[in-house]
Amino acid sequence: MLVVGVSGSPRKAGNTEFLLNEALAVARERGFETEYIHCSELKIDFCTDCGDCSKGKPCPKEDDVARVLAALEKSDGIIVASPVYFGSITAQLKAIFDRTIQLRRQNFKLKNKVGCAITVGGSRNGGQEKALETVHAWMHIHGMVVVGDDSHFGGIAVRPAAEDRIGRKTVVSSANKLCDLLEKMEMMGGCWKGE
Ligand SMILES: Cc1cc2nc3c(=O)[nH]c(=O)nc-3n(C[C@H](O)[C@H](O)[C@H](O)COP(=O)(O)O)c2cc1C
Repeated sequence: MLVVGVSGSPRKAGNTEFLLNEALAVARERGFETEYIHCSELKIDFCTDCGDCSKGKPCPKEDDVARVLAALEKSDGIIVASPVYFGSITAQLKAIFDRTIQLRRQNFKLKNKVGCAITVGGSRNGGQEKALETVHAWMHIHGMVVVGDDSHFGGIAVRPAAEDRIGRKTVVSSANKLCDLLEKMEMMGGCWKGE
């Protein structure tokens, strides 16, 4: 099974990527395949609601979104990580979220995939929980199954992430919870997907 990680940070090798790498390492150790989408490496335009995807057509914008959509579509689990920007996710990640509307409009292609979220801020109470909620809203609106970190809402850390022992624990717990559920779903066969 495949777990795809999406980093919403425009900064390469920053705190968000550090934490997402930790989460994906957990999945790999447990035998999952992983794929990493770095928002910092992508050119993603804004959705302008042209309506093409509602008519079953491909998105007319010529950028990197097709790569992201293909990875999300083939995944079983999705881990989204974002820095906190003004109490929410980054604009870059929101642009990606909006462009995934075509997956929803074309037969809810992310339905029943398992998701969890990771956020990191410069302040201890800088809006990490609010940013997590934004990611969770995206997942729920796609019909995904959302998990937290086994006791709270997901992976929550403060910069510098490498030194945040408690925050890193919530990231590892979230990744383990996502993998636990995927394993249980696999044991159930295709029936949980409505097959
Ligand atoms: C535009 C901007 C807005 C920010 N807003 C917040 C905020 O509201 N709360 C917070 O705790 N940190 C805030 N930060 C700090 C970042 O969340 C923090 O530096 C984070 O570790 C960046 O992640 P990265 O290292 O992956 O880029 C902000 C940073 C920037 C650049």
